[in-house]
Amino acid sequence: MPRRLLVTAALPYVNGHIHLGHLVEYIQTDIWVRFHKLVGNQAVYICADDTHGTATMIRARQEGRSEQAIIAEMAAAHQADFAGFGIAFDHYGSTDSESNRQLVHRIWAALRAAGHVVERDVTQLYDPKAGCFLADRFVKGTCPKCGAADQYGDSCDKCAATFSPTELKNAVSTLSGATPELRSAKHCFVRLEPFRAFLKEWTASGTLHPDMARWIANTFLVDELRDWDVSRPAPYFGFEIPDAPGNYFYVWVDAPVGYIASTIDWCAKNGDDWKRWWEGGGAEIHHFIGKDITYFHTLFWPAMLRTAGIDLPAKVHIHGFLTVNGEKMSKSKGTFIRARTYLDHLDPQYLRYFYASKLTARAEDLDLNLDEFAAKVNSDLVGKVANLASRTAKFVPRLAASYPDDGGLFARGAAEADAIAAAYEAGDFAEASRRIMALADRANEFVEQAAPWALKKDPAKAAELERACTVSLNLFRQLCVYLAPVLPGLAAEASHLLGAPIAAWGDAQRPLAGNAIAPFQHLVARVDPAKLQAMIAASAVESPAAAPAAAAPVDDGAALAAEPLAPVCTFEDFQKVDLRVARVVAAEEVPKAKKILKLTLSLGGDQQRTVFAGIKTAYKPEQLTGRLVVFVANLAPRQMSFGLSEGMVVAAGPGDAEIFVLSPDAGAKPGQRVH
Ligand code: 2FM
Ligand code: ZN
Repeated sequence: MPRRLLVTAALPYVNGHIHLGHLVEYIQTDIWVRFHKLVGNQAVYICADDTHGTATMIRARQEGRSEQAIIAEMAAAHQADFAGFGIAFDHYGSTDSESNRQLVHRIWAALRAAGHVVERDVTQLYDPKAGCFLADRFVKGTCPKCGAADQYGDSCDKCAATFSPTELKNAVSTLSGATPELRSAKHCFVRLEPFRAFLKEWTASGTLHPDMARWIANTFLVDELRDWDVSRPAPYFGFEIPDAPGNYFYVWVDAPVGYIASTIDWCAKNGDDWKRWWEGGGAEIHHFIGKDITYFHTLFWPAMLRTAGIDLPAKVHIHGFLTVNGEKMSKSKGTFIRARTYLDHLDPQYLRYFYASKLTARAEDLDLNLDEFAAKVNSDLVGKVANLASRTAKFVPRLAASYPDDGGLFARGAAEADAIAAAYEAGDFAEASRRIMALADRANEFVEQAAPWALKKDPAKAAELERACTVSLNLFRQLCVYLAPVLPGLAAEASHLLGAPIAAWGDAQRPLAGNAIAPFQHLVARVDPAKLQAMIAASAVESPAAAPAAAAPVDDGAALAAEPLAPVCTFEDFQKVDLRVARVVAAEEVPKAKKILKLTLSLGGDQQRTVFAGIKTAYKPEQLTGRLVVFVANLAPRQMSFGLSEGMVVAAGPGDAEIFVLSPDAGAKPGQRVH
């Protein structure tokens, strides 16, 4: 009997673009779903945008448009990014949907009816200018422990102290710059302590990797479980609480319910009944999440589901975080890489394979070391897998009429099917990759020995050549079957090459014979180091993902008042200034100069200019190297005490710490004129 699997990946926030950190999860889940589809299980991959919360509301205000407009724009961007990586959701919904509202109401009514909801006043910081309560990350101030300035409301990144935002000194709202004040409001709480015995049992019952189950038991479940604050007073973007008007469900209430609502919407489109998946229909529910949201998925969520009589997940698959070159992703180093930026430069198959080769069932962090990335892709995908086809497919028009004696090679590969399948099932894709590459090594030894390129030169060896190519191409295809969950594109190309679709796991059990071989097309190219570098350089100059915490506060009109507009100039006047895109190829300090940095700019080709720019008070040299700037190219050169300055870099702001160098969007090329 095929299994019925309802599989979810965490719903990405609508407020930011997808980056390589997100993709660890979506690619991993996609591989797992594709594997199950290939072995004949019915798997449904469900996702949606997580839309509600203060951040969406503030962004809508700042941009002067509706939340729905932002949601629509970001839904399109997210889905295009996912599709670019071959991530094939069966349904991609939104938590801002009618089906979600109704289901949240139903679960809420069940929590109320069971007596799990309590109400009490909460005193919080309130922004009188923005007219809303402030979540911790919207307050900044001086650390009460060590005195470090500019710290968020919950913790200090200098001394690692944690505190409540009311303890911050000189607190300001990052939304408006106003000084927050304390205000009280009624909140609804869900009591979790009554669920403790159930949660202890459920988290230890095989629903989690044993390491995670132990961690949860030893941290969250040791002390009394605190009541969960599930409401936010208006204004808040979300669903209003039906029996507490003026209050809204906290985004983390309706986000996981979105898993079910998105299933409901998928069922509505496909004539299915969502209850077959979520209510006693015998389906297995699998959540894939990052370790940072374990608490929500292993405590709140099961408590909500159980109260509402909805099925509990069969398994919560928890993974670690992504580091790049051994460190947290960093904007200034260009290692905070958006999905789109990656796609602009590199083949998505590389990343799918690299992540697969690193992922285990444990919640360990995964490091994307870019040298290792290039080396592994080149050695495994290009050198071991694609190589088998590229060295043989052009030599013969078709496979031999019957599969020749290969010394047991194909049979040995076929016998690996169960072990590889078990590794996929367990989420140990690293183990699956190792086993597949071990088979690839043997196949390559065979090709080396058979040397079809030598046989091709001797017409008397045509039959031997046909046999060698038949074995080699069948071994190639067997690898492509095993790799199909990771590399669906490669599997499709292998299907085309040999005129036989790779459609089932069992396709690795039977060799092909007699098939015509289609003209060979290049399968996977080696990683181009220049493109890798270009991706890093482009990432370093991208504006940060839209996030209100990072948005400029205060009144936008103030800057204009401080520096009124200059008299009108004609278009011809403007045209006299030749503005060009330039890349900073070097940035260095100038001895004794407090405000000056020496910049070497490239205008493309071998055209370079030296500029002494008064921006040292706001920029470190390493923040500038590699980024694109706007350059006044025809400004008369100026002799300064440090040397000749051959133009000017354009920047905004009054000076000192407030200097903002202008950059064109990614994609602009050095030397292009700015009109
Ligand atoms: O952490 C996050 O990015 C959340 N948006 C995940 C929500 S997952 C689910 F519960 F909806
Ligand atoms: Zn501190």
